[in-house]
Amino acid sequence: MKALQVSRVIKKYDSDPVLRGVSLSLNPGERAALMGPSGSGKSTLLNCIGGIDRPDEGVIEIGGQSLAGLDEDALCRLRRETVSTVFQFFHLLPTLTVSENIEFPMQLNGVGPRERAERVYDLIQEVGLSHRSGALPHELSGGEMQRVAIARALANRPRLILADEPTGNLDSATGEAILDLLEAVSEKNGVAMLVVTHSPQVTRICRRTLEMKDGRILGQTDSE
Ligand SMILES: Nc1ncnc2c1ncn2[C@@H]1O[C@H](COP(=O)(O)OP(=O)(O)OP(=O)(O)O)[C@@H](O)[C@H]1O
Ligand SMILES: [Mg+2]
Repeated sequence: MKALQVSRVIKKYDSDPVLRGVSLSLNPGERAALMGPSGSGKSTLLNCIGGIDRPDEGVIEIGGQSLAGLDEDALCRLRRETVSTVFQFFHLLPTLTVSENIEFPMQLNGVGPRERAERVYDLIQEVGLSHRSGALPHELSGGEMQRVAIARALANRPRLILADEPTGNLDSATGEAILDLLEAVSEKNGVAMLVVTHSPQVTRICRRTLEMKDGRILGQTDSE
């Protein structure tokens, strides 16, 4: 079964479609990069896959489950349990510590306190932030904030992570380290990733690169 299957998705905001029949698929644990000019529809596609927005036509299946039949509650559950998103500007909760930010999605999901504590401990280690667990987001560097966001994205053990410009707000050395981390957590957890980026460096952690233009995927290149 595919981790993600997108078939002929069309999305319009006004009259002109922003997505004009997009199809792609990801196997479990597979990573693909999505590149293309500003305004080509990359974030719109990610929002449709992540259940933040709904397509007008076409089918999106995550782990074999079609999003079309899900009501708002079920979409909300999907966003908590199956798909996680990592953003350019991290979107951490500013009044919560590193540990609390990572714990938060598990609280929403009803994970018990003991298991939450264990998973927070493991995740903080995994992203290399054990020494910063009590810090608040404003006390962290950009790279550290993105590490917290990645740990948080893994908290509920999703099958798919969507990353929208995850290194877009970082200097290149920090961005490289974040790409290494994304690759490592994807390998370790067997989680598939779709990474939107303007940075050609991302191709080194992705087997495939998809080229998007004017709401269509024009082609793909294999890096291996
Ligand atoms: N909520 C919205 N309402 C109306 N138009 C929108 C909305 N969201 C996006 N658009 C339009 O859809 C098109 C695609 O936007 P999108 O954000 O998906 O592009 P992108 O490829 O992610 O660009 P960038 O690389 O700059 O992030 C743009 O023309 C944008 O103005
Ligand atoms: Mg975008």
